[in-house]
Amino acid sequence: MGFARLGFSGVKAAKMGYAIAYDHSGKGYAGDAARSLITYGFAELGLHRISAAIGPDNVASIAVVRRLGFVHEGRLRDHVHTNAAWRDSELYSVLAHEWAG
Ligand SMILES: CC(C)(COP(=O)(O)OP(=O)(O)OC[C@H]1O[C@@H](n2cnc3c(N)ncnc32)[C@H](O)[C@@H]1OP(=O)(O)O)[C@@H](O)C(=O)NCCC(=O)NCCS
Repeated sequence: MGFARLGFSGVKAAKMGYAIAYDHSGKGYAGDAARSLITYGFAELGLHRISAAIGPDNVASIAVVRRLGFVHEGRLRDHVHTNAAWRDSELYSVLAHEWAG
């Protein structure tokens, strides 16, 4: 159906990623999975910062992190190379003391 993951990166920091199969999208699963994972990351893993880098046109994913209270930090230029082109990402993050669950 899908997945959500935290990739450790730096001191007490992780990068979040997720994907939900098209047949199951639009039901809140990505938001629910991300919320559970973030709570686990802060409460159980002792993380300080969780970030998400999202393609500028990925309106569904940007809606997910905004609804969770992530802060927009800026644009990462030529962040990924996919389908034979360099693409920017929008960087979002949430810090442990900002997370209300
Ligand atoms: C992005 C993705 C994970 C969202 O999964 P999902 O389970 O459908 O997400 P949710 O149902 O929790 O939330 C989707 C949000 O996007 C919004 N949304 C979806 N399609 C939209 C569109 N075309 N325009 C505007 N908003 C849109 C929904 O309204 C919802 O926001 P809301 O709850 O504030 O109304 C899923 O589309 C996906 O797997 N995409 C491909 C992989 C990917 O992009 N992963 C993220 C990489 S950063």
